[in-house]
Amino acid sequence: MTKTFIIVAETADGFIAKNSAHPAVWTSKEDKRRFIDITKQAGVMVMGLNTFQTFPSPLKDRLHIVYSPDEDAEKNNIEGVVEYTNLSPAELIKSLEARGFSEIAICGGSTIYTMFIKSGLVDTMYLTTEPILFGVGMGIFKEDLDIKLELISLDKTEAGTIFTEYKIINN
Ligand SMILES: NC(=O)c1ccc[n+]([C@@H]2O[C@H](COP(=O)([O-])OP(=O)(O)OC[C@H]3O[C@@H](n4cnc5c(N)ncnc54)[C@H](OP(=O)(O)O)[C@@H]3O)[C@@H](O)[C@H]2O)c1
Repeated sequence: MTKTFIIVAETADGFIAKNSAHPAVWTSKEDKRRFIDITKQAGVMVMGLNTFQTFPSPLKDRLHIVYSPDEDAEKNNIEGVVEYTNLSPAELIKSLEARGFSEIAICGGSTIYTMFIKSGLVDTMYLTTEPILFGVGMGIFKEDLDIKLELISLDKTEAGTIFTEYKIINN
């Protein structure tokens, strides 16, 4: 059974970015290390175009699946590195399973986190909470949800970053 998980970093006041173009440069080095370890183990990262465009270049050793509203985006595919899609979460997960992936990292932003959590196909959330405030910005999700979680683990670094892992209880 494929493990599909959300991986996300938030501020202590619950924001993942100040706006759609804000790169995640504010997270701790421990969070960056954890992100690399977890996403490399999965081998595939699913994200929206806005998030992909905050990266200076594709990340090493991982397939990037990028949701794009441009119907012709696939012509820019770099097979195995950056591949554009507009498949539903169920169709995408099925196609990645068929390619042999057993873990799928859902890497944001709000639009993509919301689409996947609503699909009921995400089983885990890796959440980092950084000791920083933005005051205003984008939340992890942007629609009304009512989803229960089970806390699986909780760790903190000396600098005050909190790492939690939650199981998502899908009804
Ligand atoms: N702190 C963190 O852990 C973290 C992680 C990831 C991202 N972020 C931040 O989140 C922000 C971006 O979030 P966002 O919500 O603005 O954008 P996003 O989720 O990265 O991407 C949205 C894009 O995906 C497209 N899209 C969505 N569903 C689609 C579908 N079914 N088919 C085709 N295309 C689809 C949208 O098209 P439409 O325009 O047609 O809707 C839009 O172009 C950035 O600031 C980024 O740095 C933070």
